[in-house]
Amino acid sequence: MPDDNIHNNPWAEGSNTEAFELDRSHVFHSWSAQGGLNPLVIASGAGTKVWDFDGNVYLDFSSQLVNTNIGHQHPKVVEAIQSQAAVQATLAPQHASLVRGRTARAISELAPPKHHKVFFTNGGADAAENAVRMARIHTGRHKVLSFYRSYHGNTGSAINATGDPRRWPNEYSFGHVHFFGPYLYRSAFHATSEGEECERALAHLEQVIQFEGPKTVAAVMIESVVGTAGVLIPPPGYLQGVRDLCDKYGVVYIADEVMAGFGRTGKWFAYDNWNVDPDLIIFAKGSNSGYVPLGGVIIQDDIAATFDDRVFPGGLTYSGHPLACASSLASIKAMQDEGIIEHAAWIGDNVLGPGLRTLAEKHPVIGEVRGLGVFWALDLVTDRATREPLAPYGGTSEAMGVLTKGCIARGLLPFANFNRLHVVPPCVVTEDEAKEGLALLDQALNEVDKYYAGS
Ligand SMILES: Cc1ncc(COP(=O)(O)O)c(C=O)c1O
Repeated sequence: MPDDNIHNNPWAEGSNTEAFELDRSHVFHSWSAQGGLNPLVIASGAGTKVWDFDGNVYLDFSSQLVNTNIGHQHPKVVEAIQSQAAVQATLAPQHASLVRGRTARAISELAPPKHHKVFFTNGGADAAENAVRMARIHTGRHKVLSFYRSYHGNTGSAINATGDPRRWPNEYSFGHVHFFGPYLYRSAFHATSEGEECERALAHLEQVIQFEGPKTVAAVMIESVVGTAGVLIPPPGYLQGVRDLCDKYGVVYIADEVMAGFGRTGKWFAYDNWNVDPDLIIFAKGSNSGYVPLGGVIIQDDIAATFDDRVFPGGLTYSGHPLACASSLASIKAMQDEGIIEHAAWIGDNVLGPGLRTLAEKHPVIGEVRGLGVFWALDLVTDRATREPLAPYGGTSEAMGVLTKGCIARGLLPFANFNRLHVVPPCVVTEDEAKEGLALLDQALNEVDKYYAGS
């Protein structure tokens, strides 16, 4: 499927065998025991599709790690990186540059009105890290409260703020406290309605703040829509309730928009779905679809002012890297010009949502369908009555293996976590591609129906 862009390009020459053998000999992978890995070779892509050197094409319903919001190889973003590289390929963070300033302005204009400054990082984890650093210094307090069901990145405070099991072998930062967020399907509060779940989850958070000692709590850091831990859509009123509790106790509200931001939920930021106004907003992935590593913190004016006369004790060699900034600026402009955010919302409302609910009528292993925009999860169960997960918390199962292998064998790249399959294509996925992906998923689910043990 190679197109004109990569014809006669030496960087495009190679084979599946060479790429696989080089990887297995020399590349050390994330979050894995290295011995049994069998990575899929990907040579290139365009839009919602990727392919290998033999021309096998895959529909990318994972957006890689839920980051290629604008799709693969968007020509305007690729062109911006190439043009910026010709002018200025790198620049130390202490200097001023047009591309960095323009990108900071463009990103802060997407945020609520009292946010004018951006601290750029290399990705999401260091964005979380620096937001926590700002909140701790701004408040003079040390504790950070975050959901058990969450992921915030793999570095010091970010991995300790994380709730999921990746935190367990990494607990070497201090002052992190976890609490339960709203998740009606598996309610920690025995709630039976969204309203009850919202009210009880907020009462729980307030109790945690009180029992931890409000004067010790610097920040509540939460994903506006919890991503990897389940695509958990907060009930109406929950995020505003968090905002109100933060105001009541003088706590900084950090919105983690690393996965949910930049179009994934059909809005620029996921909190826009509920019109809340966080203090610090952390972003990465969709801000430039990961074409060059980039993340950052959008900073509310009062918190930024804390560091007017006081040194901010943090920094990165590549903060505001020109190629990363150029790719983000071009990506934001393309999203605006091409109506990509609105398209993502439309696909969610009209194709993915209804299509996944139809699949749930057919496949009893689908316990719950939830999502917004191009951000969906299937909560898979062995029994709808008991809601027993199709794989245990923190683990996998034969059934989940059959499902993910079945998707890949049919040319669909899935995103799976524990007992869930996430349906997270790029925001640019067309109606036909979305329907094609749902049809392939339907076939893969046929192979999993046998694991259903309920009546
Ligand atoms: C919500 C959230 N926050 C933070 C991160 C960390 O981002 P990165 O992997 O770029 O460090 C991730 C990554 O998946 C994420 O989903």
